[in-house]
Amino acid sequence: ATVVRDNSAAVSCEVAAEIAALIREKAAAGEKAVLGLATGSTPKGVYRELIRMHREEGLSFKNVVTFNLDEYYPMPVDHLQSYVRYMNEQLFDHVDIDRESVHVPDGTLEAREVAGFCAAYERKIAGYGGLDLQILGIGRTGHIGFNEPGSGEESLTRMIWLDEITRQDASGDFFRLENVPHRAITMGVGTIMNAKRVIMMAYGVAKASVIKRAIEGKVTSEVAASFLQGHENAVVYVDRAAAGHLT
Ligand code: F6R
Repeated sequence: ATVVRDNSAAVSCEVAAEIAALIREKAAAGEKAVLGLATGSTPKGVYRELIRMHREEGLSFKNVVTFNLDEYYPMPVDHLQSYVRYMNEQLFDHVDIDRESVHVPDGTLEAREVAGFCAAYERKIAGYGGLDLQILGIGRTGHIGFNEPGSGEESLTRMIWLDEITRQDASGDFFRLENVPHRAITMGVGTIMNAKRVIMMAYGVAKASVIKRAIEGKVTSEVAASFLQGHENAVVYVDRAAAGHLT
């Protein structure tokens, strides 16, 4: 399903409300809510709204377990561009989540440790019964997580090489292109497809053409987000600008 809203604020409130409902429903059943989380500019409004609900509406994160999609490699946790730092600043520092319940791919590993870490990441997700809900942004290459063109439908958590377009899009955050890492650790397309519910969001005219390819184009590993066409419980929320090329 594709849902068009006037602006990102409207989408953020709707998505945060769905996440809050899931958290409360699971809490009432004495269960954990297992969330797959994204970074970047797109989900910031969702996190802001969740923090507001925590402060003003008593939404507790005590029963929440999180797995982030990706992290640059290599990446120390205290760096400005670290996704650990992003998640702390955008969400975790402001809610009552247990730190042991938070999982972000580890950008500090030795290269030889990465494959084992990735296999363990998959086992941990599976150990919680899989992701209840995965939220996603989309990159101009069609990536979800950092599943760049060529990522297969069955791909799992692994180290990847970032596309040059993705590195250029990140160069603002890193102040110059040379500072952007060439690699990242990311959940695979298969990891994301296994989530029980998937919510992808995209805003702005810069995303309009990739949104069209992802939603109306053929399903191909050249556009990882196109695989979501085959997910039985996925929704794509766009603002009017990102919806601009849809027929
Ligand atoms: C972030 C991630 C990426 C971003 C995508 C869009 O964890 O996995 O796929 O969602 O690059 O980034 P923004 O939202 O900054 O346009």
